[in-house]
Amino acid sequence: MVESREEFLPLNKPSIGEAEIAAVTACLKSKWITTGPLCAQFEEQFTALTGARYALSVVSATAGMHLALLALGIGPGDEVITPSMTFASTVNMVARLGAKPVFADIRYDTLTIDAERIEALITPRTRAIIPVHFAGAPADMDRIGEIAARFGVTVIEDAAHAVGTRLRGTHAGGFGGIAIFSFHPLKNITTGEGGMITHNDDTLQNRLRILRFHGIERDAWKRYGKGGNPEYDISEPGYKYNLTDIQAALGIAQLGRLDEFNARRRALVNLYREGLAGVAGVELPGDPPYPHTHSHHLFVPKVCAMERGLFMERLSEYNIGYGLHFPPCHGLTYVTARFGVTSLPETERAAARIISLPLFPDMTDQDVGYVCAAVREILSRPGGA
Ligand SMILES: Cc1ncc(COP(=O)(O)O)c(C=O)c1O
Repeated sequence: MVESREEFLPLNKPSIGEAEIAAVTACLKSKWITTGPLCAQFEEQFTALTGARYALSVVSATAGMHLALLALGIGPGDEVITPSMTFASTVNMVARLGAKPVFADIRYDTLTIDAERIEALITPRTRAIIPVHFAGAPADMDRIGEIAARFGVTVIEDAAHAVGTRLRGTHAGGFGGIAIFSFHPLKNITTGEGGMITHNDDTLQNRLRILRFHGIERDAWKRYGKGGNPEYDISEPGYKYNLTDIQAALGIAQLGRLDEFNARRRALVNLYREGLAGVAGVELPGDPPYPHTHSHHLFVPKVCAMERGLFMERLSEYNIGYGLHFPPCHGLTYVTARFGVTSLPETERAAARIISLPLFPDMTDQDVGYVCAAVREILSRPGGA
């Protein structure tokens, strides 16, 4: 009998140490706190990490996706292929621009887009494919890149989960298209809220930069510096999507700890795999069948022997947090109303069973042991008795 712990074990908690506090404090003391040299440094570090030529920091991955879709000129009459098993932010941005999300089914084991199903969905209206490196497992970028090149379609990698994800040695964002990263507190590194767009295209960089800040050509820190020209003109209205240097200071310090964070995540996932191996009623996440480095952003097993709602109730009784990544987008009310009903058998089979269990670098080995023991006990009486 597993005794319920007193302290709640959350799904996730960012790891913020002295390095982060010192970096943010130094930024505050510098008195330059909005977009400036630290954002530029954070962006440079992202080009180094990903191998992409350009990186542009933004307030969130959602904002990054919005800007990327806008800069590509995606709008009414256009179609964008995306898995339904993703965060709603992508589909929201596609829909907001008046374009149509076309949902591709996923692989049940890895929850990543099934690259073999993409080609059948391409039409003359298809403008982009948005694979997701789900939970940190890389999508099949070789196959997706080949299809995209053949049909002249842009790939926008949703790399929100993928800081540290590699496929055959190439980091997410390094495959030649556009990639969007997230620094939400749940992600592998955080800036509080934040995101990064990476890509290789000179013209696109200029357009993204202008759209990021009201449509104004020059950055604030250049306009207000010594000898700067405070005048401006706007030829296209833009947004207010720039990251601040306070956030970048946090991001730079977090990036400095990425290897430590992801190694710890890997060790915790290995403990989960050992602790849940052979437990009837739970399926462990599959691994992509090509050489890769997983960022282990999330640990998402599937519960097969009992109703997931009841399983979640039981986890709460043990004081264990959980998450749902994701309620599939094709079932969202406005999506079915606007774009019709889609049948995605693998997505639906997985969606009924997935559950995200606690995973964050500051978790202890004992925490994982406790979750595994609780899961074993819960599944040993699947009727809920
Ligand atoms: C797969 C995926 N894409 C995009 C996003 C959006 O990221 P952000 O919160 O930085 O806008 C998330 C966030 O949870 C995500 O999980």
